[in-house]
Amino acid sequence: MDETTENSALAALAAALAAGYERRDAGDLAGAERAFRLAVDAAPGEADAQGALGDTLMALGRFAEAAVALCAAESLEPARPHRLAALAEALLAAGEFGAAAEACRRRVAIRPDSVPALLAHAEALLALGDAAAAAGPLREAALLAPEDADIAAKLCQVLTDLGEPLEALELAQPAVRRNPGHPRLQVALGCGWRALGEREKAAAAFRRGLALDPDDAGAQAALHSLIHDGAAEAEPGAAYVRALFDRYAERFDADLLEKLGYRAPQLLREALGASPGGLDILDLGCGTGLAGVAFASLARHLAGVDLAPRMVEQARRRGLYQELYVEDLLVCLGRAAARWDLILAADVFTYLGDLGPVTRAVAAALRPGGRLVATVESAPGLDGFEIMPSRRVRHGAGHLRACAEAAGLTLGRLGPETLRTEKRQPVPGLVFILAKG
Ligand SMILES: C[S@@+](CC[C@H](N)C(=O)[O-])C[C@H]1O[C@@H](n2cnc3c(N)ncnc32)[C@H](O)[C@@H]1O
Repeated sequence: MDETTENSALAALAAALAAGYERRDAGDLAGAERAFRLAVDAAPGEADAQGALGDTLMALGRFAEAAVALCAAESLEPARPHRLAALAEALLAAGEFGAAAEACRRRVAIRPDSVPALLAHAEALLALGDAAAAAGPLREAALLAPEDADIAAKLCQVLTDLGEPLEALELAQPAVRRNPGHPRLQVALGCGWRALGEREKAAAAFRRGLALDPDDAGAQAALHSLIHDGAAEAEPGAAYVRALFDRYAERFDADLLEKLGYRAPQLLREALGASPGGLDILDLGCGTGLAGVAFASLARHLAGVDLAPRMVEQARRRGLYQELYVEDLLVCLGRAAARWDLILAADVFTYLGDLGPVTRAVAAALRPGGRLVATVESAPGLDGFEIMPSRRVRHGAGHLRACAEAAGLTLGRLGPETLRTEKRQPVPGLVFILAKG
């Protein structure tokens, strides 16, 4: 292009842009679109013309076309945060969630401490259905804006949905104290309590949320289902168990040993009796490792598994376990067949309902001649199993016999014992052995 042609193209661009802005300011979006299209034709390599056209198409609600123009502007003049923001908004509105998340990611890479950029990234990832990835930018935003109740509520909700209700509550409780009048924080708090099985606390939080915003349909439905569907005791699920013991990890040993006279590990050791050493031992629901202490002298290799990471951290500090896993015990048992000589379960079946699945998994994981030594809470006359209002589970001898038989294991010893005390009353239980022939 010679200099004269270039000058006249630039003049046409400037005139078309000026006309477009003038039409837009006058509220004539169709006129603005026509003028900005002329600007694009006059200078196809100019990012400003594409950007202005994209913004106008957004205002006209033509999101897919806006995304095309804004994408062209972004490739002509890359890495401008305001354009990436507009492009992400257009892509989100057009339902292009993956591309929107990518535009947001690029914007955050340029402005890592922009709260709006982090929030937009989280929104795009949530729209994409990737709550686990969205938690990252939301956490960053919450760190940068700790007083922002909307962000705290959103992060709390996302963490609960991800099965992390304890972290959600640790975040929500101080935020609620700072902002007691924020309805969505109250509802997020209620969801966290509900996930932990604390129905009364959940209902109270949903009621407070509804008092602040009576139109919140989500809170209405949550409260309704808590009141009407929650009559039967629910088995303690993984999120509940994890949060319960993570909360308790620091005090567990002192409370159980000093205040509650906890004896399950010693009872297991006594039940096993004389035994050769050099065993490969797996401690199910190892907690802080009290059963590891009782059995370490018999172990060639000691492994533990527990759902609660803070309990496992305590066990790790003992330095007795060669392997420790933070996962469900069924996952750990399923990892290798015929791997263990001895499997321990001290006060862990109390958090499972039907013991059929775990007994079958134990049968597969034991070597021939191997044994499981375990405790359950029980009650006189109980034959099956029952979930108590505390959400702990009691098992009767009949259930243990049926599970052993179905798994092809021999019920070797079944003795009533006192496992610990609760409110100064003895907690009755059974100590039993299952042997693999
Ligand atoms: C009462 S504590 C007993 C801990 C240890 N066995 C002891 O005797 O000190 C119960 C432990 O079982 C764990 N637990 C419960 N259900 C579990 C599951 N399905 N998978 C893995 N661990 C589980 C809990 O996280 C908790 O640490």
